[in-house]
Amino acid sequence: MKKPGSDQLYAAPLDEIVSFSFDETVVDVFPDMIKRSVPGYSTLINMAGVLSSQYAQPGSQLYDLGCSLGAVTLSMRRRLTQPDCRLFAVDNSAAMLSRCRQYVSADTVDVPVEFACVDIQHVSIERASVVVLNLTLQFIKPSHRMAMIEKIYAGMLPGGALLLSEKLAFSDEAEARFFTEMHHAFKRSNGYSELEVSQKRAALDNVLVPDTREQHEARLRDVGFNEVRQWFQCLNFVSFVAVK
Ligand SMILES: C[S@@+](CC[C@H](N)C(=O)[O-])C[C@H]1O[C@@H](n2cnc3c(N)ncnc32)[C@H](O)[C@@H]1O
Repeated sequence: MKKPGSDQLYAAPLDEIVSFSFDETVVDVFPDMIKRSVPGYSTLINMAGVLSSQYAQPGSQLYDLGCSLGAVTLSMRRRLTQPDCRLFAVDNSAAMLSRCRQYVSADTVDVPVEFACVDIQHVSIERASVVVLNLTLQFIKPSHRMAMIEKIYAGMLPGGALLLSEKLAFSDEAEARFFTEMHHAFKRSNGYSELEVSQKRAALDNVLVPDTREQHEARLRDVGFNEVRQWFQCLNFVSFVAVK
C-alpha cells in the first residue's frame, strides 16, 4: 500500500511518458521525491539559510526563485537577523506556490514573505542582497540562461550573493557515465526501481537540461560576479556562491 506522500508517480509501467511538469500530481509527493532524488538536498536547504544569513543586508530584498514548496524560503527566513528585509518566493507552478503559501503561513517567524506566481524570467529583481536558484536554472531554456543571470546580477546590491545549485552535465564521457551510474545507484538505494528511474529519466529529457561546471562558472564570471565559489558537491549536484 502507498504511504501518504510517497512518490510512486513512475512506479507502474506507463504507455506514454509525458514530459515532467510541476503540477498537482507532484505537489503531494514533492518532498519525498526531491529527498530521494537529489543527493545532499537537506544540506542544500540548511546551507541556503546559513549562507544567506551571511550575505543579507539591512533593508534589502531576498529572492527564492523556483521556490516549489518553500523549503529555501523557510530556511532563509528562520536564520535572517538583518532588519527590514523582504523575502520573495517565486514559482510559475500555481499548484506548487499554493502549497508553499500554506507552509509559510503555518510557520511562526514574522519576516514578511511575498509570493509571485510568475515565470522567474519576468520577475523584477531589485535591491537584492541574496538570490537563490536552488535546482531551478536547469529548467530554464539554455538560450535564456545568460539573460536570467544578467538580470539577477543587475538587480543585486554590491556584496550581494547568488546561491546557485544545479545538477551537472560532464563533457568527459567517462566522468558523465560514472556520475550517472552513481546517481542511479543513489536513487535505487532510496527505494526507486529500475523502471521508476528510467521512466523518470525519460520524462525529464529536454525538460531538465544540465550545464557543465565550466559553463556555470564562465557565465557567472561573464556577467560580472567577481567571486565565484563552488561550496558543495554530492555526486552530480553542485552549488555555487557568486558574490557581486
Ligand atoms: C526542482 S524544483 C526547485 C526546488 C526548490 N527550489 C527547493 O529547493 O525545494 C524547480 C521549481 O522551479 C519551478 N520553475 C521551473 N521553471 C520556472 C520558471 N520559468 N519560472 C518560475 N518557476 C519555475 C518549478 O515549478 C519548480 O517548482
